[in-house]
Amino acid sequence: MTQDEQKRQAAAAALEALRPKLGRGVVLGIGTGSTTNCFIDALAALKGHFDGAVASSVASAERLARHGIPVLTLKESGRLSLYIDGADEADPNLALIKGGGAALTREKIVAGAAETFYCLVDESKCVEVLGTFPLPLEYIELAEAPLVRALEALGGQAVRRPGVLTDNGHPLLDVRGLAMTDPEALEKEINQWPGVVCNGLFALRRADQLFVAGASGVTVRARP
Ligand code: 5RP
Repeated sequence: MTQDEQKRQAAAAALEALRPKLGRGVVLGIGTGSTTNCFIDALAALKGHFDGAVASSVASAERLARHGIPVLTLKESGRLSLYIDGADEADPNLALIKGGGAALTREKIVAGAAETFYCLVDESKCVEVLGTFPLPLEYIELAEAPLVRALEALGGQAVRRPGVLTDNGHPLLDVRGLAMTDPEALEKEINQWPGVVCNGLFALRRADQLFVAGASGVTVRARP
């Protein structure tokens, strides 16, 4: 099975899991990326069975709208029932690295507004300890040099992502070499540096259920 087929399988399994939760008053939070795109395309079959969706990126909002799914703001929606998104890495405690698609800040906001977070991955994303995938960090331009130095002091090597600004108009660093045995502590530490908009560790708001697609089908891991 190809990686794309695995992404579609994870999306289909998540859709089956959420189907009984749909109904009037239900608004979903929707992430960003190729796995989430598979989910949006599958979700289109159930439009009309829920009120709409809050998107974590312009790209996802456009895709939802193309399918005729109402796109709402967080002001309009109130608290979300469920947030569905992919990830770049997931550890056994369902802490994640996200932001490979540059949508980490809005993803963290929308995930934080949801009761439950379903994360969809193919098995290549599952790791024992986070950190092989470089950690994305969205920041205010002025802070670039001090942030690069602060990351170096933690053992990280930060490289600006070329040619990319986020939907919020900010640049990104991709950081290799950080120790992530305590992802919550690292997320908190980086969060409080001046100029950081958001870092791609999702450990404080980790996934509640991880849908992992592999060669023999989809397994669902619950948050321990
Ligand atoms: C976007 C993300 C994505 O969820 C992550 O990059 C995974 O993407 P894909 O499903 O395309 O592998 O965090 O900012």
